[in-house]
Amino acid sequence: MAQGKLSRGVAVVGAGMTKFGSFRCKTSRELFVTAFQEMLASVDKGVDPKQIEALFIGNFSSDLFETQSHTAPIMADWVGLTPRPAVRLEDACASSGVALRQGILAVASGVYDMVLVGGIEKMTDLPGDKVTDALGIAADTIYETSTGFTFPGFYASMATAYMHAYGATPQTFMKVGMKNHENGSLNDKAQFGQRISAIMEARKASAVKKGLPMPTWQTELDFLSDDRGNPMVAWPMRLFDCSPVSDGAAALLLVSEELARNFTDAPLHVIGTGQASDGALHSRSTLTSIPAARAAAQEAYRMAGVTVNDIQVAEVHDCFTIAEIIATEDLGFFAPGTGGKAAEAGETARTGSHPINTSGGLKSKGHPVGASGAGQVNEIWKQLRGTAGERQLPGNPSIGLTHNVGGTGQTCTVHIFERR
Ligand code: COA
Repeated sequence: MAQGKLSRGVAVVGAGMTKFGSFRCKTSRELFVTAFQEMLASVDKGVDPKQIEALFIGNFSSDLFETQSHTAPIMADWVGLTPRPAVRLEDACASSGVALRQGILAVASGVYDMVLVGGIEKMTDLPGDKVTDALGIAADTIYETSTGFTFPGFYASMATAYMHAYGATPQTFMKVGMKNHENGSLNDKAQFGQRISAIMEARKASAVKKGLPMPTWQTELDFLSDDRGNPMVAWPMRLFDCSPVSDGAAALLLVSEELARNFTDAPLHVIGTGQASDGALHSRSTLTSIPAARAAAQEAYRMAGVTVNDIQVAEVHDCFTIAEIIATEDLGFFAPGTGGKAAEAGETARTGSHPINTSGGLKSKGHPVGASGAGQVNEIWKQLRGTAGERQLPGNPSIGLTHNVGGTGQTCTVHIFERR
């Protein structure tokens, strides 16, 4: 009978990532090398890369974005791991959350003592319409994409359902973007690492320079409510409700718990892992929740022996602002229908009761889809080890969570980490 527990403990002893952004002259293999080198440098007591026994890498679609399939051995070769086994995991935007889980299970099983987990995506070489088409195949192409929906449209449907059910307004969603840009302004790895107010002032200055009428925006909400500052993408999701198109890579080093202190005095113990799946959007009983996220969270909480009240910091999958609100409810931080109000009240800010996306989240930090899950762990690694710089949460948080969603919620992984 399955125990729902890891057969032996697993810990993260190194984490690295590239800046997320648009790197036209770099390939994903070069980005992965950068993330790998940063990860090696982060291992406090050093590590010989020859000790790494396998690679699990998340990647959504190097096939479409770079015309390159069979990506895992290329990544292994570029970081010097061959002939070790290398596996690519594809579960849309949850690809590296799933790679992380597979790496954890491989070490917990006793087959390996040390594995590398990575995530890569190189999206910006394609024009915007082709990126939208490529992302579209992460949805169900028969039931979802063929109806004309794009990803902003899917999440806009969830947003309108949420507004209808709970009385949220477009300003509710804007507050999430404002908070995430504020956090991202303190993160040098963020693609759009500026406060909305700074972007607003830059746009005003640009209008003056071009001899255009001066916008009358006074506040961030003025800017975000105006089509000129914040064009509509799919009502009610505007530009600043959407995560951007991004390039980036991230890398994590996992070892068995008994070896962890050979590499650092401050490992992150993996205390919970959860994963669940679901059908397409039309087949669900609700649009205001992602059932796979609820199921993955329950598995992770049960394994960790903690409740949501023990989680001091969380990186959640805010591919769109509505997704962050729904995530905070699915994970149990707030009751159904109250996540929007909590965001408006500042409860999810760094100073709030439940700090969410201190990195800036996918909205501000960027969303190179296959790398995003491993990127989230980089933030928890920093927050739990007290190295997050200006955005460091006070009070030495010791338990943190990541939540990584694929498609419209067909895949979700939840991981819980503890610094002891
Ligand atoms: N937030 C804020 N600003 C953004 C932005 C974003 N998400 N995306 C682009 N911009 C800015 C650009 O910097 C540029 O600014 P500039 O004119 O001052 O230089 C301007 O908006 C236009 O950029 P462009 O790249 O032409 O945007 P676009 O219209 O082609 O794409 C979106 C905008 C929102 C459609 C695109 O980012 C998108 O599809 N996002 C969602 C990605 C997605 O679905 N991911 C999977 C989720 S499950």
